[in-house]
Amino acid sequence: MRYGYFDDERREYVIERADVPVSWTNYLGRAKMCTVLGHNGGGYSFYESAERGRITRFRANGVPLDRPGHYVYLRDDEEGDYWSASWQPVGKQLSKAKYEVRHGLSYTKFQCRYRGIEAEQLMFIPLGDDVELWDVRIKNRSKRERKVSVFSYAEFSLHRVALDNQDFQMGLYAGGCSCKNGVIDYDFFYGPGVNHFMASSFAPDSFDCVRDKFIGSYRSETNPAAVERGRCFNSEALTGNHCGSLHKQLVLKPGEEKRVIFMLGVGSREKSGYRIKKKFSQPVEVDKAFGKLGEHWREKLEVLQCECPDAGLSSMINTWTLYQAETCVTWSRFASFVEVGGRTGLGYRDTAQDAMSVIHTNPEKCRQRIVELLCGQSSTGFGLHLFDPLLLMGGETAGGDAALPTVVPSAKAGRDNSDLADVCADDALWLVVTICQFVRETGDSGFWDEVVPFEDQGKATVYEHVRRALEFSARQVGRSGICKGLRADWNDCINLRGGESAMVSFMFIWALDNFVEAAGFLGRQGDVKKFRAIGEKMRVACGKKLWDGKWFIRGFTAKGKKLGAQKDRQGKLFLNAQSWAVMSGLAEAKRGRMCMDAVKRHLFSRYGLHLLWPAFDKPDDDIGFVTRVYKGIKENGSIFSHPNPWAIIAECMLGRGERALEYYRAMNPYEQNDDIENRQAEPYSYCQFVNGKDHAAFGRANHPWLSGSAGWFYTAATQYILGVRVTFEGLIIDPCVPKEWSGFSVRRKWRGATYEIKVKNPNGVCKGVKSVTLNGQAVKLPIGPQGQRSVNEIEVIMG
Ligand code: GLC
Repeated sequence: MRYGYFDDERREYVIERADVPVSWTNYLGRAKMCTVLGHNGGGYSFYESAERGRITRFRANGVPLDRPGHYVYLRDDEEGDYWSASWQPVGKQLSKAKYEVRHGLSYTKFQCRYRGIEAEQLMFIPLGDDVELWDVRIKNRSKRERKVSVFSYAEFSLHRVALDNQDFQMGLYAGGCSCKNGVIDYDFFYGPGVNHFMASSFAPDSFDCVRDKFIGSYRSETNPAAVERGRCFNSEALTGNHCGSLHKQLVLKPGEEKRVIFMLGVGSREKSGYRIKKKFSQPVEVDKAFGKLGEHWREKLEVLQCECPDAGLSSMINTWTLYQAETCVTWSRFASFVEVGGRTGLGYRDTAQDAMSVIHTNPEKCRQRIVELLCGQSSTGFGLHLFDPLLLMGGETAGGDAALPTVVPSAKAGRDNSDLADVCADDALWLVVTICQFVRETGDSGFWDEVVPFEDQGKATVYEHVRRALEFSARQVGRSGICKGLRADWNDCINLRGGESAMVSFMFIWALDNFVEAAGFLGRQGDVKKFRAIGEKMRVACGKKLWDGKWFIRGFTAKGKKLGAQKDRQGKLFLNAQSWAVMSGLAEAKRGRMCMDAVKRHLFSRYGLHLLWPAFDKPDDDIGFVTRVYKGIKENGSIFSHPNPWAIIAECMLGRGERALEYYRAMNPYEQNDDIENRQAEPYSYCQFVNGKDHAAFGRANHPWLSGSAGWFYTAATQYILGVRVTFEGLIIDPCVPKEWSGFSVRRKWRGATYEIKVKNPNGVCKGVKSVTLNGQAVKLPIGPQGQRSVNEIEVIMG
């Protein structure tokens, strides 16, 4: 069953049926203000931090599933009938009201048609201002004059999620709200300088600042008292729950269209509200801002566009997967309709990986993230698994951080650097590769010399930070000579502590290889020698201890028991132990093919690759939390999205293009557009995981948007299937495609020049490059950076 389609030309996903089983969301805002917005108008905004900078409220795990939101109500003032510009919250019968929603790049457009009135509500946050604009057009399609009232509605939130959801001792008395000169000001009284506002392009006929007045007792957003009676109550109050609602009655002649703008913004009425109202009351300013947002995305997308025989790959790579990866790097992983801001800051490994994939389209943000992560690195080398750079680096979220008198109990005060209880063995290793990738992409070798503080004491160059990360891992080696698992590796639920992890060991080899290449490029031969030797030792230990005849084991428990061995009853085969054996270069062709064949045989399904097989059904704390999760769910044998692209990369490294594309297509949400009765979640973005075959709801996708899979699928498709990669020296084109692909093209901007790459596959091979020309001249790969603003034609003949 389908609910919508991809409009590739406009780069929009169009929802034709609003009654999707779950909310399909979008992200507005590119800098400090963000709104997570569902396809029915539900959602919430925050400023900088979803946890400590809340603007509007969201009722997590609520019924209905997406309340409240940023709503526009319309009312026929002659008949008293009312509806909303998005299908919900009023929820008119879909047979009588026609709705369409367009999720675009940082904007969403709701369109409806009901009883001769056509309405559109375009939502976006302009690049230069911390305000969400609701650009509303109402058109009379009937043959008689109509009187239509329009109301905005948003429910303000207390500044902090905890205060808003738990601490009602303080919370209920912390906010006040008033309306003056047509601008509603919400004042979070406990935090100096925390205000939000709602304004409009008109002088309102009525307003409401008090939520329970606007809605009325024993009612909901579906049938608010104010809308039903056709006028707000002009309510204002200090303390209680607040909202912003501005109302205007419009008279529309037959065929006439009127446009009104609502503005939901950050800052006080005096400091920001009046200025923003003045500016965006002029529709031309709204149009200009919307145009600039479009330009912003056009510039990004131009950095890499492809045309290839797989429509789903082209559509996702050219628009949606990049968009999702950019969204994760911008807003981190704590704001969605499932993650509702209760956690905060940056996850170390997640952020490092997110920042790895979009350096070409967003070098500034990735650089910022890298520096933040370096500041979250201990001087002994590991990364703080979860931390908030705004707090760590002494920053502030829009005020409001005045200490409250309520005491929050905590088990442990302070943290001791010698205590590794919270340290994950993989966190800082990701950053090593991210930094190498940053320099490869930007050519900014000077970055290695930048001095950045450690989280605990002292400071050092970026280069030295990276050395310490590697030295930390070199020290954390267990009795088999491979890396310890510590609290967890990439898999949060494999908790081997003093046991050993194959995945970390393979990642360590990968990170060392990246660093050795960088050190060589910088001429630091001493480090090349030292870290190459560490890598060699690790390779030997891995080769000896981890091969189990047909595949690689996942590691050893602290008691020395093998994990992921053929003779095991459950957890026999782990995906990451195979794909990373190949990705690290450890598994040479024969073992590589064998272990990846086992993956195909035991882990593949029509929705992608399962993370392990068979799922655990008996708790075993020697292995970790994974054994306490339901079968087929999350880390216990679901089709976890994030590791799937690693298997694609491994297959590309083995030269098996058919299989790489088969894996890519199986997980591509685009391919599940017509299977929403199973998938449920958005078809334009990856979820964290899809229920595995052991679960009754096999194929259901969970935890939308916030997943490292976007960045890694993007990397797998662009750098390994299409094969366009940057190195320290230059550009490499090394495709691995199905034999039947006759060719494809990629436009790539890199270090100020454009490369129009045409790949031809006349002999129908999966991998291998026979010849390359640059602007008509035969060349060898890599191709070094060409002149600034030059446009270069590259032709690659596979064979
Ligand atoms: C979640 C976490 C990520 C972890 C993965 C597997 O996606 O955000 O850090 O690697 O689960 O456990």
